Amino acid sequence: MTSGGDAPGMNAAIRAVVRKAIYHGIEVVGISLGFSGLILGDFQQLNGKTVGDIIHRGGTILRTARSEEFRGPVGQRTAAENLKGAGIQGVVVIGGDGSLRGALRLAEYGIAIVGIPATIDNDIPCTDYTIGFDTAVNTVVDAINKIRDTAASHERVIIIEVMGRRSGHIALMAGIAGGAETIFIPEVEVNLEEASTKILRGRDRGKPHSIILVAEGVGSAIDIGKEIKKRTGMDTRVTILGHIQRGGTPTAFDRMIASQLGAEAVSLFLKEAAPAVMVGLEAQKVTNHEIEHVLQEEKKINLEAYYLAEILAF
Ligand code: F6P
Repeated sequence: MTSGGDAPGMNAAIRAVVRKAIYHGIEVVGISLGFSGLILGDFQQLNGKTVGDIIHRGGTILRTARSEEFRGPVGQRTAAENLKGAGIQGVVVIGGDGSLRGALRLAEYGIAIVGIPATIDNDIPCTDYTIGFDTAVNTVVDAINKIRDTAASHERVIIIEVMGRRSGHIALMAGIAGGAETIFIPEVEVNLEEASTKILRGRDRGKPHSIILVAEGVGSAIDIGKEIKKRTGMDTRVTILGHIQRGGTPTAFDRMIASQLGAEAVSLFLKEAAPAVMVGLEAQKVTNHEIEHVLQEEKKINLEAYYLAEILAF
């Protein structure tokens, strides 16, 4: 099943799980609409052909949801009973940390679980990358390239708000790759005075436009835009990229890691690993950790990269 926010590359992961399982003679069913579909018993037989022609597609062919009903004990019990009734021995849950939390509840009913980290936010510990992050970062960089044309032509300050929930991974990586002058992320205290001074200093040096990237977890880019305009007196605009960051064809990198992680999920079922584990990519190696451990850890932001961004945005 796929669960939570969709992420580009989820389809590539579904394909890998199905094809690797079939290779080993395992029967696979798809659960529609995440935990909501599980409660409804919305299962469909999947075969090698059903997952053909999807590796390049964004979204998820299984569709997804954030299920309120599954948060309660009745929903969880119904879901577990539906799985047992259908003779399903293990579930691959493709999604973010809310989905991993939900998966852990299922494991308490004796269902074997393998989690595959997939969210554009890259906010899951025990993996360097989550499926969808690379595509989202590339989408943001593409947007920055376009917005930069207007920023330069009109000599404006443009504030771009990006997703990431409570984390700044998308903002940081896209900010560096897109050459943003300032990056605001929740992990580092925001200093509007310093950012304004930097913009004015840049203007004095002959750099009359600036791009500021704001991670949504910091607060409203509209409010930040008003403050920057007040402090610098410069022509300021705000762009909120929104769900454009979740869609589109996955990058080769996302397809690659989705394929590796999907295949590894099946291998772990075959090895009868711990009852609830998550596969991940650490230092270019496919690894796995118990989900309970993953959820206790904290994904750290790369502060070295943050300070590098400050130097490079001179
Ligand atoms: O977790 C992915 C994400 O896109 C976050 O970056 C964002 O905060 C959230 O989901 C938006 O969720 P929804 O699509 O339900 O509004």
